[in-house]
Amino acid sequence: MWVTTSHPLTGKILRDRRFGVRVADGSYPGNGSLLPESFLELDPPDHTRLRRLATPAFSPKKIDEYRARVEKVAGALLDRDEFDLIADFAAPLPISVISDLLGVPDEDTAEFADYGALVAASFDTGVTAEMADANDKVLALFDRLIAQRRRTPGDDVISSLVAAEAEKKLTAQEMLGTLVLLLVAGFETTVNLIGNATRALLDHPAQWQLFQAHPEIAPAVVEETLRWASPVQLTSRVAHERVDRIGEDEWVTLLIGAANRDPEVYPEPHKFDVMRVHKPEHLAFSSGIHYCLGATLARMEGDVALRALARRMPGLRQTGPATFRDSVVIRGLKSLPVSRF
Ligand code: HEM
Repeated sequence: MWVTTSHPLTGKILRDRRFGVRVADGSYPGNGSLLPESFLELDPPDHTRLRRLATPAFSPKKIDEYRARVEKVAGALLDRDEFDLIADFAAPLPISVISDLLGVPDEDTAEFADYGALVAASFDTGVTAEMADANDKVLALFDRLIAQRRRTPGDDVISSLVAAEAEKKLTAQEMLGTLVLLLVAGFETTVNLIGNATRALLDHPAQWQLFQAHPEIAPAVVEETLRWASPVQLTSRVAHERVDRIGEDEWVTLLIGAANRDPEVYPEPHKFDVMRVHKPEHLAFSSGIHYCLGATLARMEGDVALRALARRMPGLRQTGPATFRDSVVIRGLKSLPVSRF
């Protein structure tokens, strides 16, 4: 088994077009999942075509326009004294944001959230009967919303994909795959950025104080969290041809979490230091053609969430043990009990 831990090598493989995400016969390590295929699991040219259709919704300009809405949601969620930082703040914020962007109505959001969590868990644990059921339900919910948007289009991602489908730019199956990818990516990653950042700050009181005095360093806190506690710890690539000692169709596991603590690149890599200079960029959002499409959105959500916490809850403290999610790929907390006093 090939594994990389160095930052330069991991980045090089991610950007090397001799590597891809599936072997010639179409097999793929995620084949155990029931999810419809998405462009995360496709090589060019299909990857290029499908990613291009989803890209406009995540442009920096769109995300900027969106900021005020995220601030409002974050503010409303923080109207409480004792709470679970994950269940009551870090999770509902991105869920509400991605539901809004996709065009999932408020009344369906809770159902999507429950099923989305189960569907995402299948990446780690394989498929259980409960997950298969959740998968069917998510697809049925999307089918219903797609049918609605065919009748009455709106200003959301479902509507723009429905329009692209009408112009034969993607199939109905590819549209479903894209929507499920955006839903799961939106639900399952940003929650961990917000949770991991809050925990890191509470565990490093001097940096929490520094941040409160200078909330404008929020982007630096976000970047250091992404490096130090990367929400996505690994990914994999397959060689489409022999590359040095790696044979054709052999898989390489790329340890993003290890690359982000490469001592050759980041001095004292295990130290959480929000003033650290990030050059080169960490690999928490990957690199190359699969570089996270939601990176600008995730950074903005992290920025808004952390500023809101610092402003509204200067006395924030942990009131019970933090528990971790049971996952190899995803690093994040299941629960973090806190109090504002
Ligand atoms: C802190 C939060 C996030 C992290 C750490 C993260 C991480 C990643 C990583 C590592 C990849 C690439 C995997 C690979 O190369 O094999 C990726 C891809 C992707 N992410 Fe994110 N992500 C985050 C948030 C989001 C959000 C909010 C969205 C938007 C809904 C999103 C949408 C996507 C999509 C669509 C891809 C596939 C890109 C492609 O295959 O071309 N992500 N993300």
